[in-house]
Amino acid sequence: MRLEFILNGRSESWEIAANESLLAALRRHGVFSVKHGCETGECGACAVLLDGVPTTSCTLLAAQAHGHTVTTVEALGAYPEQGWRHTAGLHPIQQAFVETGAIQCGYCTPALVLTAYALLQRNPNPTEAEVRQALSGVLCRCTGYVKPVEAVLLAAARMRGEPLAGRPPAWGVGGDQPSPPAPEYSPTLPSPNLPSPALPFGSLATTQTQVLPEVVVAPVQARHVGAAVPKVDAVKLVQGKPAFAADFELRGMLVGKLLHSPIAHGYIKRIDVSKARALPGVHAVLTYQDVPRVAHSTAGQSDPIPGPLDFFSLDRKVRFVGDRVAAVAAETEEIARRALELIEVEYEELPAVLDPRASMAPGAPVIHDEPDYVPFGECDPQRNLAARIHIQLGDVDEAFKRADHVFEGEYEVPRVQQAPIEPYVCITYWDEDDRLVIRTSTQVPFHVRRMLAPVLGLPVKRIRVIKPRIGGGFGNKQEVMLEDICAHLTIATGRPVKMEYTREEQFSASTSRHSMIIRLRTGVMNDGRIVANEMRILSDTGAYGNHALTVTGNTGHKAMSLYPANKGPDGQSHIRFVADIVYTNLPPAGAFRGYGVPQGFFALESHMERIARELGLDPLQFRLMNVIQAGEEHPMSRAWSEGREAHGEIIRTCAIAECARVGAELIGWGSGGPVDQEIGKLGGEDTPSPLYQSTNLPAPNLPSPILRGQGVAFVMQGTAIPNLDMGAASIKLNDDGSFNLLVGATDLGTGSDTVLAQMAADILGCEPEDIIVYSSDTDFTPFDKGAYASSTTYISGGAVAEAARKVAAQIQQVAGQMLGVPAEEVVLAERRAWAPDGRSVTLAEVALESLHHTNQHQIMAVGSWMSPDSPPPFAAQFAQVAVDVETGQVTVEKLAMVLDCGVIVNPLTASGQVEGGMAQALGYAICEEMAFDRHGRLLNPRFGPYHIFTADEMPEMQVRFVETFEPTHPFGVKAVAEIPLDGVAPAVANAVYAATGVQITAIPLTPERVWRALGHKKGRW
Ligand code: FES
Ligand code: FES
Repeated sequence: MRLEFILNGRSESWEIAANESLLAALRRHGVFSVKHGCETGECGACAVLLDGVPTTSCTLLAAQAHGHTVTTVEALGAYPEQGWRHTAGLHPIQQAFVETGAIQCGYCTPALVLTAYALLQRNPNPTEAEVRQALSGVLCRCTGYVKPVEAVLLAAARMRGEPLAGRPPAWGVGGDQPSPPAPEYSPTLPSPNLPSPALPFGSLATTQTQVLPEVVVAPVQARHVGAAVPKVDAVKLVQGKPAFAADFELRGMLVGKLLHSPIAHGYIKRIDVSKARALPGVHAVLTYQDVPRVAHSTAGQSDPIPGPLDFFSLDRKVRFVGDRVAAVAAETEEIARRALELIEVEYEELPAVLDPRASMAPGAPVIHDEPDYVPFGECDPQRNLAARIHIQLGDVDEAFKRADHVFEGEYEVPRVQQAPIEPYVCITYWDEDDRLVIRTSTQVPFHVRRMLAPVLGLPVKRIRVIKPRIGGGFGNKQEVMLEDICAHLTIATGRPVKMEYTREEQFSASTSRHSMIIRLRTGVMNDGRIVANEMRILSDTGAYGNHALTVTGNTGHKAMSLYPANKGPDGQSHIRFVADIVYTNLPPAGAFRGYGVPQGFFALESHMERIARELGLDPLQFRLMNVIQAGEEHPMSRAWSEGREAHGEIIRTCAIAECARVGAELIGWGSGGPVDQEIGKLGGEDTPSPLYQSTNLPAPNLPSPILRGQGVAFVMQGTAIPNLDMGAASIKLNDDGSFNLLVGATDLGTGSDTVLAQMAADILGCEPEDIIVYSSDTDFTPFDKGAYASSTTYISGGAVAEAARKVAAQIQQVAGQMLGVPAEEVVLAERRAWAPDGRSVTLAEVALESLHHTNQHQIMAVGSWMSPDSPPPFAAQFAQVAVDVETGQVTVEKLAMVLDCGVIVNPLTASGQVEGGMAQALGYAICEEMAFDRHGRLLNPRFGPYHIFTADEMPEMQVRFVETFEPTHPFGVKAVAEIPLDGVAPAVANAVYAATGVQITAIPLTPERVWRALGHKKGRW
């Protein structure tokens, strides 16, 4: 049938199928700003304006647009510079999104921009609440909505012509002040080129601290590091350009689909694919009988994989509801789905293990009984044990005997989904040299290539992995999830194949955060000194052991190090960490931003709160008394290093005390006023303890029966994996003085491409816009272990600094000859090379000299970087909540996080990371949980019932950075990406504890859980 409509101001006439969605039709015609995030109208990524009204195009038939006007972001503005053709540039809303840092992965950005456009068309002067309400139909998993809301308000002001709207609002780090101006550059200053990587800049103390944005303490002699530079990829993302994996088309491309297991555990007794294969348009149907059986891990990690090899592309056994049964490649998605329906499968069902507590019980069904299972470490598949960790520092039992008090507690954290708005998506094809190209939304392109070579029976050199823009990953895409099966289909058919998960598949046949049951036992002296600490974990890895060992090892490595339990007379740490990571017949767990650490800190910081309360100690002072200090050795560093040999690491920078001070001020903590608000009907024995004088909230104005309280949590993370994570970068000078920076690092939306460009620009004396960043392609970019472990700014940044330093030296050499001065006297700045007497040549002139005139050669270099240290960032997280004791509803009113993440390279991207991370962590605290029925079927595999926060549900969020200069890095940086996930849940739970006097030891704090806990306290149960 024909669809006649107006698209972006032009009349269109398209041939469409009667059942084709408007989303599919638009994308088929190259309108790629309209994204797929679900199929149910719940994420808003597919938003278009239908006759000016925001509408989800995935739930609208294309035929319904007949006779209507459809507007997409493609209609809104152009790149400002289009050669001789002049354009008006970006639309003010797009411009504001770029300037305010409202774009992270950018997958939701076109929908947010379009929705904002519709709002401002009908209401040019919206309030913040109206903006949040308007944006609430579009889910963003990255930003926490702070900067998108700022962007819309800024654009509205500009569109109204208000004089103060000439610059973006404060970038949020300081909240009320603009970014500090870049220092004036003077060519007579000492060289801005970097000193030795082992040394800090200048001679200032490396641990002196200062809160951004007032001053950058360790005054890096740099113009761009520390500046709120807009993201280098912002313009294409705000325009909805085809930058993502699914925005790529090839002639003859087939659609791949998977048949998933409907049972939790069993064997495929009989499978008949003959009808599916006979269906016209079907090109391949693969089962376990068709593909090589190669035991491997899906975890994208360095070689050797620190875990069991227990996964097969297709297997006769299925181990969870959603496990793979068969794969189909067909001409269209509809034919592929029909083919899946025609596959006949008979299962021999086995008893399933759905509770990790039952997994190792005698007689429990064995989930991995395959003879070709490849074990790792202390795993024991016969007991469903995927990994085991046992670490002991000092004489723990003796230390417990000496303690005045021993506190024990059990805490439980749920399985939650990363929920990137872009689902898994991958395209595979043979190129003209018969090399297999895998274009995939992955965090780990080099690991994908290495790991898939044996699975596919191809040498590494015949595989090329291209990573386009990624629509959010959060650890979910540190997994080889679709690439193997998509490649098998290309090998089987010889045709390009595209596979993309539906949202339901993304939830039920993907990875998630490990659920854990955590027991803590802590020995404390009367005055609050911690002398012994023990953590025992039962961790559920689900059906496969990808990341089993390393995630849970990280839980102990970070959570058990914050308070090193060394306050006894011997000054030694007395710590025991024991973990059993067990298989169950549930979807596999995996990497999720924070990588095991949020679980540990929920338990630890809840436990610390209880100890402080029961000992009558101020919770902040108690923590500060016991927290690790700069100069101490990281207690777990000699005991654990993700499968590598561990060695001692000294904590060189730690500003946690300053973070706590600043955070307490922000939230209004501890200034001696009345406390956690009574309000309400609990009264009597339920009244919060008078010992807990921790806040000075204003007089309550909340209706009874609401209680209000504040909570705190201290957290630490790591920065990359020491002696393991390696990144490399290459830099090449072009004729015009610009540079190509090629990195294997993968920008997930974090802004890493931008901060790498800032670092390079400072060393090369140019502007970040002169650095053309490309990441990543295993054929062209140097190796990088990928985006995980909060490592890119530190590791890949080190590599960029190294490459830039080498390129700078080559430029100085050529320029020195041109200027007749020694190379070492040449200073690079302002796109020029300067002689001491003030003469200069441009970088373009240097490039032309070396490429075309004298001693011709290409100025370029490669740098590699690896660190023996993993310097921890630290943070203090505060929360304020209101609890309705009648319904159990917890409303988080404020979150404030103050972080020591070393030098902040880009306050815009760093604060965006923190805001987005806190938003994800808020879901972990309050509402997110994957729920299964007694058959192991996921009950909430959609955004609606799973629920991630929307723009109008967010609390007030404040972010501050307390800078330190980490001396193990050329630019003094530490990690920022993961630590925001660690503290929100315990801070919120502690705030509920403060408000109600009831400690709840499991998350999420759903109304039912809170109501039950309060009811239990009151003797209702
Ligand atoms: S609402 Fe349409 S893709 Fe999610
Ligand atoms: S920027 Fe919104 S989903 Fe990534």
